[in-house]
Amino acid sequence: MSDSTRSAYLQAMGIPQWLPRDVVEEAAVGEDGGASVQPVSADVSALDWPALRDAALACRECALAEGRTQVVFGVGDQKADWMIIGEAPGEQEDLQGEPFVGRAGLLLNNMLMAVGLSRETVYIANVVKCRPPRNRDPQPEEIGACQRFLRRQIELIGPKLILVVGRVAAQTLLETDAPVGRMRGRVHRYPGMEIPLVVTYHPAYLLRRPIEKRKSWDDLKLARSAITDNRPGA
Ligand code: URA
Repeated sequence: MSDSTRSAYLQAMGIPQWLPRDVVEEAAVGEDGGASVQPVSADVSALDWPALRDAALACRECALAEGRTQVVFGVGDQKADWMIIGEAPGEQEDLQGEPFVGRAGLLLNNMLMAVGLSRETVYIANVVKCRPPRNRDPQPEEIGACQRFLRRQIELIGPKLILVVGRVAAQTLLETDAPVGRMRGRVHRYPGMEIPLVVTYHPAYLLRRPIEKRKSWDDLKLARSAITDNRPGA
């Protein structure tokens, strides 16, 4: 990618390129808190894509089924190298049935573009497939009821890299209550599958705290290098 193309992409992400890296503070404002996971019973671990989608669309295992317009299953390339995982659908996602289509989604698109990717070349999904009321954080029992769908999606895709955006998704996938500020900046492994996993800020958070976009750009570069470093023989 040429410097001018990269500049255009960084501009699209809203990153002021003159900003020295060391002026921004390490911050986890609004990203602290806990999200734990509850066990679930119904087994989807052997389902193929169509059966998995059907099971998710028919799911009524938690109270979020009552308020949803649509189940937001996931979108993108089922053979993608990159999988992007967010928290839960918001209003627009609930209406359109697709993850990250609201304002945060537009920023996510630009973040992907900054590393030469697009919505079509990655797979995007959420930890929770139905919209929590008034966009509140998903509750542990809701995450617990839904996580099997995400796990099976990860198994079916077999991505080379998982990019997790935001506290709730990161805490869920890494089974921790650490704040995002402590999880980002290094390559983790998705438990049980050893897939490289990088945590970054949620695009909705970046819209509120644009100064953090520089760190998010660093995370994207880390994610890109994690794929290269994880190649067999690399
Ligand atoms: N926030 C998320 O975490 N996921 C979406 O799909 C939309 C907003």
